[in-house]
Amino acid sequence: MATITASVYTSHVPAIGAAMDLGKTQEDYWKPLFAGYEFSRRWMRDHKPDVVLLVYNDHATAFSLDMIPTFAIGTAAHEGYGARPVPVVKGHPELASHIAQSVIQQDFDLTIVNKMDVDHGLTVPLSLMCGEQDPATGSWPCPVIPFAVNVVQYPVPSGQRCFNLGQAIRKAIESYDEDLKVQIWGTGGMSHQLQGARAGLINREWDNRWLDQLINDPVACARIPHIEYVREAGSEGIELVMWLIARGAMSDIQEGRVVGPAPKLRHRFYHVPASNTAVGHAILENS
Ligand code: DHB
Ligand code: FE
Repeated sequence: MATITASVYTSHVPAIGAAMDLGKTQEDYWKPLFAGYEFSRRWMRDHKPDVVLLVYNDHATAFSLDMIPTFAIGTAAHEGYGARPVPVVKGHPELASHIAQSVIQQDFDLTIVNKMDVDHGLTVPLSLMCGEQDPATGSWPCPVIPFAVNVVQYPVPSGQRCFNLGQAIRKAIESYDEDLKVQIWGTGGMSHQLQGARAGLINREWDNRWLDQLINDPVACARIPHIEYVREAGSEGIELVMWLIARGAMSDIQEGRVVGPAPKLRHRFYHVPASNTAVGHAILENS
C-alpha cells in the first residue's frame, strides 16, 4: 500500500527561482530566505520520497484564459518546464491515473492532462526543497505528479473544498497497491497582492495566525471563506487554499474531523521580503 509520509508547504515566488538560477542566493537580500530552507534540504535527502504529489497553480503557462480547469492532474511520464533552466519533471503515470480514477469516483471532478508544461509554481518549490539541479545532467530526486488548482481566475475553489479534496487524495493514495512513500506538497502564498491599489500588501500577523491554525486546528482553518484571504492576505494570498489540500491529506483527518494524533511539526519558517510576497514554509510528518 502507498502511504503519505509527510506534507510540505512553501511559497513559490518566481524571483526565488531567478536568484538560484543567477547565483544570487548568498547576496544580503536572499541569504536569510535560503537559510530558512537549509534544514528542509537535509530533511529532503534523509526522507527521500518515492513520489511527490505537488499541488500548485499554473500562471497561464499550461492553461490560458481559453480553458480554466478548477483541478487538473498531470498524468504524463514527462512534464515540460517553463523558462527556468531546470531538469524536466518526470511524472508517475500509474499512480496519477489511479488517483484520478479514485478521486473522480469520490465525486471530485478532475481534469486529466496527459501533456502539461509546468511553470515556477511547481519548479520553485522543487528548487527550494532540492537545491540547484543542472538542467542537462541533473534530475529531481523522484517522480512528481503535478496537481494544478485554479486560484487565478474567479470563481476559485473554497478552502473547505480543497481540504475535502485532500482527504479524497489520501484515500486514493492509500488504495494504491504498491509500497510507495508519497509526500504531498501545498504551494503558493503567503500574503501578497501583485495588482491594483493594494499592490505590495503583506500581513505578517494574519499569515502567522493562519499558519498556527493550519497546523493545529485545520478543521477551523478550512472554514475560512475566500473573501477573508483576499481582504487579509491580498488578491494572490488566495493561493493559500492549496495548502489545505496537503493538510487535508494528513492522517489525523478523516470525514472532515480530527481523528488521530496531530502530525509532527518538523520545521516552520516565515520571511519577508521576497519580491512582493511573504514566504511561509512548514514540514509536517505523519506519526
Ligand atoms: C510574485 C509572486 C507570485 O506568487 C507569483 O505567481 C508571481 C510573482 C512576486 O512576489 O513577485
Ligand atoms: Fe503565484
